[in-house]
Amino acid sequence: MTAPAPLAGRERPAGPGSLDVDRRDRREPSARSCRRPAEPGSLDVDHLREAFPILDQEVHGHPLVYLDNAASSQRPDVVIDAISDCYRTYYANAHRGVHTLSERSTDAYEAARGGIARFIGATGSAELIFTRGATESLNLVAQSYARPRLGPGDEVLLTEMEHHSNIVPWQLACEQTGARVRAAGVTDAGDLDLGAMAGLIGERTRVVALTHVSNALGTVNDVAAVVELVRDRSDAAVVVDGAQAVPHMEVDVSALGCDFYAFSGHKMYGPGGIGGLWGRAELLASMPPYHGGGAMITRVTFDRTEYTAPPHRFEAGTPSIAPAIGLGVAVEFLESVGLGRIERHEQELLSHTMEVLGELPWVRVLGHPAPAAGAPRAAVVSLVIDGAHPHDVATILDEQGIAIRAGHHCAQPLMERLGVPATVRASFGMYNTHEEVDRLAAGLHEVRRIFG
Ligand SMILES: Cc1ncc(COP(=O)(O)O)c(C=O)c1O
Repeated sequence: MTAPAPLAGRERPAGPGSLDVDRRDRREPSARSCRRPAEPGSLDVDHLREAFPILDQEVHGHPLVYLDNAASSQRPDVVIDAISDCYRTYYANAHRGVHTLSERSTDAYEAARGGIARFIGATGSAELIFTRGATESLNLVAQSYARPRLGPGDEVLLTEMEHHSNIVPWQLACEQTGARVRAAGVTDAGDLDLGAMAGLIGERTRVVALTHVSNALGTVNDVAAVVELVRDRSDAAVVVDGAQAVPHMEVDVSALGCDFYAFSGHKMYGPGGIGGLWGRAELLASMPPYHGGGAMITRVTFDRTEYTAPPHRFEAGTPSIAPAIGLGVAVEFLESVGLGRIERHEQELLSHTMEVLGELPWVRVLGHPAPAAGAPRAAVVSLVIDGAHPHDVATILDEQGIAIRAGHHCAQPLMERLGVPATVRASFGMYNTHEEVDRLAAGLHEVRRIFG
């Protein structure tokens, strides 16, 4: 078993010899993982798009406009190449062999862990557990951290804007222990009602779990402020669902002050089937394993088993080696483009979208009407058109080559709170363009024409 390295001074661990990726400091763009943007402050989006082979295609005779990034983003060729390179040249099971390929796979897997841990501001790579994604990460915390600490009368506090992945695992843990789930309210503008939330935090609150960014409205929650509220009023752990934040803004778990942070690789330009859970080292060390099997033990007898330390304690069985390596490269790609640039670009797309949608009186945008009108908002826009079912809208847009999502976005309690069964959701990524915003507006005009 190769122990994960501490991240002293946030230096990158040495990469495997065969994985030809640049592992320099996060401020230095990697020449291989991205064509350099033209100027420091802004993205050269046309150039950037060349890194994403899937974007260069037509759908129903129109150039693809991919606006379903909140569901899943696309992958740059460096990520695809890294996975292919792994399988073609050095793949073997990690952690188990002394032969050369196994050592190379292990090194690449652990180097990816180190890079991802540093990317989100962890103080050590042992704080980063590879999971299948945000859903598994949240289930892990619910079962391994919360379940042993919950009892009858205890409370888990959520918010009304949670994805089902941050509701159902807590309901399961509460059903198993006699605890109960409560939910902090959301205002009509789609913001977390912090005052009301404060009133719900008390000495029976064991966990407060909230999303960093709403997948349905784009609301950005002030996690640090919530952490402060919680610390003032209880000993509860703060669990953050970062699935919609990590690809779009700088995330520093240490600065946020939370206890756990979950995310998914496929939403951050990485492979599917891989994601992460960051947890405070002392909490992880106190938690029993989530799954049992190989790779998470130091000694097994029929009487008892001794477990390894985190993170491997929580990674039973053969890990998703190539996807983890691919996620490490996706993180390098994000770093090379620059989260600041990405955020600025996406905010410009959001402003443009709000502007064009503001000219369509038959379109109702949920949440803040404009980013400047209140709390920060990520580039996720949910809208409804009276008289047109969101699925019909999505179908008409698809005929014009525009990929958006229609439905409840796995946030049924939020839909209920806002009084809509479903919405049409356009969600942006680093490679979207202003021309695509105009294509969306034109597509909605076509919807209007068809529905009268
Ligand atoms: C806010 C949020 N949390 C959790 C998830 C679940 O992510 P995954 O399905 O990758 O586990 C999603 C996916 O849409 C999400 O948007």
